[in-house]
Amino acid sequence: MSTLPTARSGQNGRETKKVTVPDILGKKTRGEKITCLTAYDYPTARLLDAAGVDIILVGDSLGMVVLGYENTLPVTMEEMLHHTRAVRRGTARALLVADMPFGSFQLEVNAAVENAVRFVKEAGAEAVKIEGGEKRLELIARLVENDIPVMAHIGLTPQSVHALGGFKVQGKTLEAADALLRDARAVEAAGAFSLVLESIPAEVAERITRELRIPTIGIGAGPACYGQVLVWHDLVGLSFGVEPKFARRYADLRTLLEQAIGRFVADVTSGNFPGEAETYHLPVEVREQWAARARR
Ligand code: KIV
Repeated sequence: MSTLPTARSGQNGRETKKVTVPDILGKKTRGEKITCLTAYDYPTARLLDAAGVDIILVGDSLGMVVLGYENTLPVTMEEMLHHTRAVRRGTARALLVADMPFGSFQLEVNAAVENAVRFVKEAGAEAVKIEGGEKRLELIARLVENDIPVMAHIGLTPQSVHALGGFKVQGKTLEAADALLRDARAVEAAGAFSLVLESIPAEVAERITRELRIPTIGIGAGPACYGQVLVWHDLVGLSFGVEPKFARRYADLRTLLEQAIGRFVADVTSGNFPGEAETYHLPVEVREQWAARARR
């Protein structure tokens, strides 16, 4: 069972205040932007936490960017729990949200609540994310009733990839935009504390953002949203698939890593690694005895 750290010394050595669900709502009320990034492991979580990111999301994008699946559908509860625990160990300040994977909440509400409880109890998540709008009302209400905060997610919901016919921008017709607005109102009424809007026109996201009391967190939903979320691997240039139009690459780690790997291979091949600085030796008195033995 995990324990929840309250704070850790930040980069400048000062104690940093833990971000909570009420803090996220407070930021929205004050008109402050909310930052959210995905993480799947301990070192990345440490970096994001120290940088002051408000929300760390263990997304089921794990399946595509870390585990090499074609889409997010094969991701299991056990995989999500394993990675959420690693991120928990690296997160002291940010709000930690775990994504409920495909099959863990669609079938039956009681089973879904049990799975959400596992994220909180066994992995230290402070909230769960659930894909889907109106059709998730009962589940969202049950989770909130049981004190599990819910981040809802509408628009391009990757777990619906087959039903949607691919990873396509949603809400482009008047009917589809109206349906998104209904979904948004419904998840807010059911008690969600925030709403991810993925791959929808900026005009639709703007209207939803204006209407809701809870913060919208956009990914490919334009600038009006209260917060923005990106997948870590897109941000640092480590994604191997097609890069979505909405992703902005803030670093090119792939080139940097390729160069580092290339230098390692060259150094080992040429005998340049390891050098004296990377080598252990026997103490001098033992070294002589050791050499004498070899001569026997
Ligand atoms: O799985 C994920 O990383 C997500 C975000 C992109 C919102 O759902």
